[in-house]
Amino acid sequence: MDVSWTTAAWELLLPVGAAPARGRGRLLRAALREAVRGGSLPPGTRMPSSRDLARDLGVSRGLVTEAYAQLHAEGYLVSRQGAGTWVATPRVRPRPHPGETPAGPPPTTGPPPVDLRPGLPDLRLFPRTAWAAAQRRVLDRLVHQHLGYPDPRGLPELRAALADLLVRRRGVAVRPDDLVVCSGVAQALALLARVLRDRGHRAVAVEDPGSPPEHGLLALAGLRTVPVPVHHDGIDVAALAAGPARVAVVTPAHQFPTGIAYPPPARAALLDWARARAGLVVEDDYDGDFRYDREPVGALQGLDPEHVAYTGSVSKSLAPGLRLGWLVAPPDLREEVVAVKRLTDLGNPVPDQAALADLIRGGGYDRHLRRCQRAYRQRRDVLVAALERHFPDARVSGVAAGLHAVVEFPGGPTRRAAMLDGAARSGVRLHPLADYRHAGAPPPGDDGPWRVVLGYAHLTPGEIERAVRRLAHGVLAGRPSAARR
Ligand SMILES: Cc1ncc(COP(=O)(O)O)c(C=O)c1O
Repeated sequence: MDVSWTTAAWELLLPVGAAPARGRGRLLRAALREAVRGGSLPPGTRMPSSRDLARDLGVSRGLVTEAYAQLHAEGYLVSRQGAGTWVATPRVRPRPHPGETPAGPPPTTGPPPVDLRPGLPDLRLFPRTAWAAAQRRVLDRLVHQHLGYPDPRGLPELRAALADLLVRRRGVAVRPDDLVVCSGVAQALALLARVLRDRGHRAVAVEDPGSPPEHGLLALAGLRTVPVPVHHDGIDVAALAAGPARVAVVTPAHQFPTGIAYPPPARAALLDWARARAGLVVEDDYDGDFRYDREPVGALQGLDPEHVAYTGSVSKSLAPGLRLGWLVAPPDLREEVVAVKRLTDLGNPVPDQAALADLIRGGGYDRHLRRCQRAYRQRRDVLVAALERHFPDARVSGVAAGLHAVVEFPGGPTRRAAMLDGAARSGVRLHPLADYRHAGAPPPGDDGPWRVVLGYAHLTPGEIERAVRRLAHGVLAGRPSAARR
């Protein structure tokens, strides 16, 4: 029973500690009910002592005692004086508690759909308390003059904090003045694209499969995107060299969407190409903070800052809604990038920049990353185990890093149709790898294995386990023998 407690139920409760203090009691009670109703805490599970749970969640013991008492009164938990607390064996299904059930259709209409889309962190883990405290401190400290138009390169204190962070965590070669704060990787690419177009570039090589929205964004700046195949060892550098582009946008730490990490020879070959062509590698380090088998591989930019532009953001580490990122362009492009940034939007919001600087400086950002890293690694393991159990012939790859994996199902078009049918029947949304192919790339053969990109970081272990099980049942229900039964 302890095993189920530490996996699925724990993940449901984890956001409680990060919630604003005022809503924590309500959230804890709702999460406990959801864990019991959803089966993450099966009947008979022994609950941790209120002291232990309070310590693990970082909340007061009184809050946990109250929640246990309330759920005891409602029939979800049973307790014996001095002996402990257990999940009750339900005689009748407990009624949902008004106002405290998570959003979604009522249970009678079946479980809500699950979207296994890649690219989202768990927004429930956003460090609300730490962020709110940082904003409070910042607003106390900022003088009126600081609320004027900011330096378009970004607040000096944030650039200093980011430079330290990127040197330490990602091996980027950067000083505070080399860096431009921007609204995510998306804006970094838009700024660079504009500068490159002004310098006469007309084509940019992109990974295929890759990120179609990025292709659209580059096209908007007047650049033609040239798809270059990605193999098991990264972008095909020979194909890149044979093409017209002198700029290549790549994701070497965890290729999007295949999930491979470029091995050292591929990284070296890419840099050789850029030097030989007097070209530029644009390194999109969108989820480079999360690596599970060892320390994250250092950024390519650290090996050759003259030929690599490095960009990243807090979209995977904190939340995409913050729209905060950074760009380290090679020295000869920097001033042009700053000029375009100034003309585009006059800089990013000051309070948010200052709050991020405060969070990084105070250690809260690293703490949050460690917490997410632990949670996401566990979720990845749960996904892999669930796939092994329910789809033993599937091959999982791309799991060493990031927030998503790639799963390959053998069996050609018949299997693909069965999987898609099963997904539709079970309400589990799948994202085929083919959806990430470049619009101008040659169509793939139809008889190879069928590959899907599975995002797991935004779901709790229990949700992942249930999604894979539902999918397996959906596929099974569509088999001719099942239909006859
Ligand atoms: C490959 C890739 N790069 C970058 C991003 C993030 O962009 P931004 O930092 O603008 O949110 C994403 C978002 O999903 C992505 O898939």
